[in-house]
Amino acid sequence: MKNRSIKNICCIGAGYVGGPTMSVIALNCPDLKIDVVDINQKRIDAWNSVDLSNLPVFEPGLEIIVKKCRGRNLFFSTKVEECISNADIIFISVNTPTKKKGIGAGFASDLKWIESSARQIAKHASNHTVVVEKSTLPVKTAETIKTILNSSIHNYGINKKDKEKTFSIVSNPEFLAEGTAIDDLQNPDRVLIGGEDDSSINLIADIYKSWVDPKKIITTNLWSSELSKLVANAFLAQRISSINSISALCETTGANINEVARAIGTDTRIGGKFLKPGPGFGGSCFKKDILNLVYLSRHYGLYEVADYWEQVVGINEWQQKRITSLVIKNLFGTLSNKTLAIFGFSFKANTNDTRESPSINISKHLLQEGAKLNFFDPKVDEKKILMELESMITGDNVSVSKKAIKAAKGADAIIVLTEWAEFNYLDWENIYQVMRKPAWVFDSRVFLDKDALKNIGFEVWSLGT
Ligand code: NAD
Ligand code: UGA
Repeated sequence: MKNRSIKNICCIGAGYVGGPTMSVIALNCPDLKIDVVDINQKRIDAWNSVDLSNLPVFEPGLEIIVKKCRGRNLFFSTKVEECISNADIIFISVNTPTKKKGIGAGFASDLKWIESSARQIAKHASNHTVVVEKSTLPVKTAETIKTILNSSIHNYGINKKDKEKTFSIVSNPEFLAEGTAIDDLQNPDRVLIGGEDDSSINLIADIYKSWVDPKKIITTNLWSSELSKLVANAFLAQRISSINSISALCETTGANINEVARAIGTDTRIGGKFLKPGPGFGGSCFKKDILNLVYLSRHYGLYEVADYWEQVVGINEWQQKRITSLVIKNLFGTLSNKTLAIFGFSFKANTNDTRESPSINISKHLLQEGAKLNFFDPKVDEKKILMELESMITGDNVSVSKKAIKAAKGADAIIVLTEWAEFNYLDWENIYQVMRKPAWVFDSRVFLDKDALKNIGFEVWSLGT
């Protein structure tokens, strides 16, 4: 066991990043006590559920780690003030969505949760505290956090204890992807730590060195670290928009998108990962992080840079509209009095997260055209689907089934929007029997066996083929 100078870690925010990240640190550093705190009591209760299938985040491999560490050196609570006060290191893992109103609305990140976390830390921290930016933040946010923390000495510095408070800020952005979070955390491509003083950087590096090869730990200045996170997401999203734009060209030329992706991906300079065509990227981060990059570029007068990156989001939205139009066209130009089964509502496979899922926009477009939609998703519960589509629900135009066959009953088409592996093993023969004919399958993820479906009798549209 390591002999460290620190013992207590607090993580503010028990979400998709805070929960899994702290679970993996707790697993690999049994000498550290880790408190994950949140203002959302329901979320904390779910993290503490006895039945581990009720954890608020579904991630393969997470339950077993929580089972091992929870109550040992990993604790979930709403005791924000107390845990801040006891902590040597505080990770801020709160949400940073796109601003909805005011200056920068629609582009800039809303930093109100970051600011309130910084104010709580300023008020309740004691002695020296290293504050770690784990959330994804616009470059230069550390400056704001520093100002809030340092002003605490004036705000609360009425007694000696408050006057002795000191802070260091470190940027340590998270690169995990949902659905593979545990594997990404256990075997990261790299850990990025940006900071101004070596001792704080080393303190954070030391935690990761408990299980990560030191060669994979990259250290930079604060601003490079903050900016690199936005740029990494922008580059990843750009690849998806690039391949999706080519999927449309494949459909009109007779090329096959999977063959093209394979052919270009074997060039080691391009690489084969992240070239899967689909209904556009979803998830809580790609769109918001690119828009944030666009906002920052415009803010610094770099209009060409802003326009370049904005188009990545533009193509993403176009791809979703394109898929809706193709469904309508193939179903004789109208969806009124038609029932469609939507297979997949999460933004990708192996997660229950629906934030910015392409299924939301595509479903809304289809409902607008008068379709009745039956949903089936292996992990997303009914309440979440109904909540996301609330504004479009009239009468009985939306229903959710726990079985694929039930969702398909009487439907004119199945639109596959998430690449859940189990969709390949459904009893497609039976599904065909219960549908209205001609029975269509629209495979927006290009992963079902097109020929096998055609042999059963389906009409099949497969993206980019
Ligand atoms: P999330 O919405 O799932 O979780 C954030 C949590 O913070 C919420 O439970 C919220 O109640 C809590 N919170 C907000 N303000 C608080 C406060 N003052 N005190 C205590 N709790 C507070 O968000 P997430 O998906 O975990 O993302 C968090 C950050 O990490 C974002 O900046 C995101 O861009 C970044 N990120 C996310 C992912 C991902 O895969 N989701 C990956 C890498 C980075
Ligand atoms: C993404 C990044 O991959 C993470 O590195 C990053 O930490 C995270 O964003 C974040 O900052 O939030 P995530 O959104 O969880 O992770 O999942 P991805 O695997 O990147 O998928 C994003 C979207 O792109 C999904 O809708 C997925 O279906 C789509 N996608 C992905 C494709 O359409 N094709 C691909 O080849 C890959």
